[in-house]
Amino acid sequence: MKKPKVFITREIPEKGIEMIKEYYDVEIWPEYYPPPKEVIINKAKDVDALVTLLTDPIDEEVLREAKNLRIIAQYAVGYDNIDIEACTKRGIYVTNTPGVLTEAVADLTWALILAITRRIVEADKFVRSGEWEKTRTGWHPQMMLGAELNGKILGIIGMGRIGSAVARRAKCFGMKVIYYDKYRKEDIEKEIGAKFVELEELLRTADIISIHVPLTPETRRMIGEKELRMMKKTAYLINTSRGAVLDEKALFKALKEGWIAGAALDVFEKEPTPKDNPLLALENIVVTPHIGSATIETRTRMAEIVAENLIAFYNGKIPPNLVNPEVVKIRKPGFSL
Ligand code: GLV
Ligand code: GLV
Repeated sequence: MKKPKVFITREIPEKGIEMIKEYYDVEIWPEYYPPPKEVIINKAKDVDALVTLLTDPIDEEVLREAKNLRIIAQYAVGYDNIDIEACTKRGIYVTNTPGVLTEAVADLTWALILAITRRIVEADKFVRSGEWEKTRTGWHPQMMLGAELNGKILGIIGMGRIGSAVARRAKCFGMKVIYYDKYRKEDIEKEIGAKFVELEELLRTADIISIHVPLTPETRRMIGEKELRMMKKTAYLINTSRGAVLDEKALFKALKEGWIAGAALDVFEKEPTPKDNPLLALENIVVTPHIGSATIETRTRMAEIVAENLIAFYNGKIPPNLVNPEVVKIRKPGFSL
């Protein structure tokens, strides 16, 4: 049997590619930047499978002429770049890479919590720029004072896998955990003593608020001016989920006018965020370039999961990380080449 064709939109770790090559005829976009839309449209017309990243918009325009396309294996947990309904309608399977990146994203979230509350980035600049030397003292009672975590309240918005992993780490820092989610999570309430509250109560009482929801029509801009105004003046906001969950303009006002103490963002409304994003001129913010899952271990595992999903599909099995299970009613898994 002829091997099915897959187009991979970026160089993913070799281990996954090797696995995929045993079953598929592989083509990889060789550049660091994403393939232009026309390239994706043209490849989609030709291939049986796609491996996509969150920077690749997969919409009607791409799918319209993708007559042979049977599966899209997303190299990410979030898949808001893919029009899932349009895929399901056409019998196209969509998979993601959940689970394997949970701990890495939770680690980065805590790195940001610590960085913003203890002013790590500012302090690093202070030393390197010679400002410390200029003070003519090695230590001062008022130098670089930040906020303490012990005894404070961590508010988690979205208690899924990642939210739970962030919450688990809170215990080590002596923090209490409250959370808001569409669903009660009684297992995690029992495990770590997290308390469910409504969003408004969370916003009004938490000292650190960390967002862990997927981007959906419901969560788009869920944190805007009204919500930011409810937060404590001493509170910090952390976002490692998707930029569009937050209204950046409102956040700018909140930080500039002191409605809240600070923010740390790994994600932006537009990525890469332009150098002239007004948020970047503020002192009370720490930023990173969407690197939540960026550890060698996790990125390698993500590539393996992508391969496992493609291989299961090839073998006529329902892929382990199918995000549109209704598709099974439209078309059975597998290729008939
Ligand atoms: C990264 O943001 C992901 O969704 O995996
Ligand atoms: C994503 O993996 C989540 O459930 O938080």
